[in-house]
Amino acid sequence: MDGKRILLVISGGIAAYKTLDLIRRLRERGAVVRCILTEAASHFVTPLSVAALSENRVYQELFSLTDEAEMGHIRLSREADLVVVAPATANILAKMAAGIADDLATTLLLATNTPILVAPAMNVVMWEHPATQRNLTVLVERGVHVVGPATGELACGETGAGRMEEPEAILAAILALTGPGVALAGRRALVTSGPTFEPIDPVRFLGNRSSGRQGHAIAAALAALGADTVLVSGPTSLPDPPGVTVRRVSTALEMLAACLAELPVDAAVCAAAVADWRVDASLERKLKKAAGRPPTLHLVENPDILAAIAGAERRPLLVVGFAAETEDVVAHAVAKRQAKGCDWVIANDVAPGTAVFGGDSNTVHLVTATGVEPWPTLSKVEVARRLAERISAALAGQPSPAAR
Ligand code: CTP
Repeated sequence: MDGKRILLVISGGIAAYKTLDLIRRLRERGAVVRCILTEAASHFVTPLSVAALSENRVYQELFSLTDEAEMGHIRLSREADLVVVAPATANILAKMAAGIADDLATTLLLATNTPILVAPAMNVVMWEHPATQRNLTVLVERGVHVVGPATGELACGETGAGRMEEPEAILAAILALTGPGVALAGRRALVTSGPTFEPIDPVRFLGNRSSGRQGHAIAAALAALGADTVLVSGPTSLPDPPGVTVRRVSTALEMLAACLAELPVDAAVCAAAVADWRVDASLERKLKKAAGRPPTLHLVENPDILAAIAGAERRPLLVVGFAAETEDVVAHAVAKRQAKGCDWVIANDVAPGTAVFGGDSNTVHLVTATGVEPWPTLSKVEVARRLAERISAALAGQPSPAAR
């Protein structure tokens, strides 16, 4: 990390003491570390220890005349290769998501245009709170990278997710983001997301409730690991994930054509909720309401995009499908994996009451050739991150078909 400039924002959590070790490790690797302490953080670690370990002065005040004269806060935020927030409390994540800038740390975070990595640390209930999960989704959609939190015993005595990742894991994430070799660098990934809209006439369509959140989060997670990622998305209201090439489509036929045009890729993840049928001949004029005679729609089956990618001549090394089921989730997913010729299936329960469609969290099973792995209920962002990591591990050492 020789000469890499890390701006480290320490916010007020008990895990701040672990950040001292992170500073030491960064310095050992030759990084230049500048630290910002929030007011709350200074109750957990002292500016003196942070300054001594970082061998740099510590910044705390937004309205400090001496600091401004020496290095304005805008420059401070820009002159870094990476901004790391560790620990990132629920409060600072909320401020970041909302764009609040009411102290030096949050002002810098709003003023920076360099990549940001956050290492959340908080009580399990705060972590699982829909507000925190929503804030995290917003941040990830904006391109903020997340490491952790880990699960285990928390400082407050409770057990669950919310422990700040260990310094070595945060260091690994920093290395991945600043170093030359990120886990999926040189790999190409294709992701489908969102619903498809199948026109009936110029104003009506057949569609479904898919929000695209899970697919978009997967594309963001693959891109965050360095993959050259293309997202083929049906109509959604989500912003384009940063660093991802987005191809917008509407119908299943358009989605299939857009996907096949992107092959070869190393990995394909089909998370789109593709309409199984389309109206065989959509009308060019708006269908009129003929008195007393409801129209009959004649439907034809849409192509299966996942099966087409899995059966393509230039097949990706790894093809991952989703199985949205309302009953016998795992059994259906196992059958779907075989029927569609894909390598993995992420099975999720979309029964009424699970709030998966449009919601922020997901409870999934990973179905592979070797078995079924239940994952705990996680945010869609976390499901995406885990999946991206698994994909990166599965591709390791395999020559890229995209490079042929
Ligand atoms: N899929 C696809 N093209 C289709 C239908 C589905 O690529 N025309 C993909 C989805 O993106 C998902 C997987 O196939 O990865 C399973 O989708 P799902 O809706 O669960 O299953 P279906 O194949 O539609 O079967 P069914 O509706 O009978 O459960």
